[in-house]
Amino acid sequence: MSLRDEFPILQRQVNGHPLVYLDNAATTQKPQIVIDAMNDYYSQSNANVHRAVHTLAGEATEGYESCRIKLKQRFNAQRAIITSGTTEAINLVAHAWGRANLSKGDSIVLTEMEHHSDIVPWQMLAEERGVEIRYVPVTQHFTLDMEAFTHALDGAALVCVVHTSNVLGVRNPLESIIEQSHAAGAKVLIDAAQGVPHAQIDFTAFGADFMAFSAHKMCGPTGIGALLVQPDVFEQMEPFMGGGDMIETVTIEGSTYQTNEHKFEAGTPRIAEAIGWTAALDWMETFDISAEHDRLIKIASWVAKSLRDLGMNVYGRHEDGDAAVVSFLHPTINSEDMAHLLDARGFAVRTGHHCAQPLLHRLGISGTVRASFYIYNTREEAEAFVSEIKEIVERFA
Ligand SMILES: Cc1ncc(COP(=O)(O)O)c(C=O)c1O
Repeated sequence: MSLRDEFPILQRQVNGHPLVYLDNAATTQKPQIVIDAMNDYYSQSNANVHRAVHTLAGEATEGYESCRIKLKQRFNAQRAIITSGTTEAINLVAHAWGRANLSKGDSIVLTEMEHHSDIVPWQMLAEERGVEIRYVPVTQHFTLDMEAFTHALDGAALVCVVHTSNVLGVRNPLESIIEQSHAAGAKVLIDAAQGVPHAQIDFTAFGADFMAFSAHKMCGPTGIGALLVQPDVFEQMEPFMGGGDMIETVTIEGSTYQTNEHKFEAGTPRIAEAIGWTAALDWMETFDISAEHDRLIKIASWVAKSLRDLGMNVYGRHEDGDAAVVSFLHPTINSEDMAHLLDARGFAVRTGHHCAQPLLHRLGISGTVRASFYIYNTREEAEAFVSEIKEIVERFA
């Protein structure tokens, strides 16, 4: 069975044409093994976790906690808090670490390349606490202005940076950012939503203090993600949401809290999703993610060049290490029209601001068409995509 055969959705037709799914930076498709793992949980083991001694409760608890064990193994992390995704993971840092450790006079460094989920929580905290936000600009070469970054670091308490841009596919120089930030006494949060699906990351060796990511961008279910935290920083975090599961004791006078990750996972967690994500992580270990990444960036680089040859403005550089994301605009054909025409022939792409309005503002545009490739995409699909666009340009430009 080929890898594509493992994804039921890839067999379907859209508008009378075979689906060519190129919206992977938004979310990836799920292999049958992930769908089966979630179905099996609901049909055989459904129960709440951490709360009862009966067999089903034991199976559900083991299934949920297996996800944490898997995350710790795969990313070599000592602390893995399970969240609803990257967005909740970053909000958790803002509430649990930011509120406990930042106050008026402190500053946070962000970049213009951030997704809204790594901007808005910090703006909310800044408003509440009087914290200053400094933004590192993006250059005309689609990279961070590292000289400005060095200046912005002066006296900063926290640096939040996107691993890989969801608009440009550009992977940032994280090793240097982490090293410089720590030398300046700042903690570092990496938004790895687009990085983790394309690379094997050793969180301990990487050295960031926090790393946030989502399961659904790496063949896992929606509604689940993780925040990895270094142990010393974990100790500086105060509980955010109060409720069941996060406490040790509750009396009328007050409560004491768990000291492990449960402290940050109040309430019934995402059990089926955790089981599905574990299945996805296990499944992804059956192939070489780095070799896949090399194959995909070659495809993206070829698509980018072909689109430039067709007169498109292409945003990104498509170097080794960057993600296989191609954002583009035709000088006269509206991006929404382009996406509708592509959809009519079975091609799924994203348009709009991609939740990165400050970046698009810097680029002087309000949106792009974005094609993003993942492990099941083929060179043939990329070629069909370029021919379709060629036809659209010939008809409408
Ligand atoms: C770079 C980046 N950060 C954060 C997010 C937010 O992820 P989620 O919606 O899964 O919380 C995304 C999703 O598109 C992203 O691409």
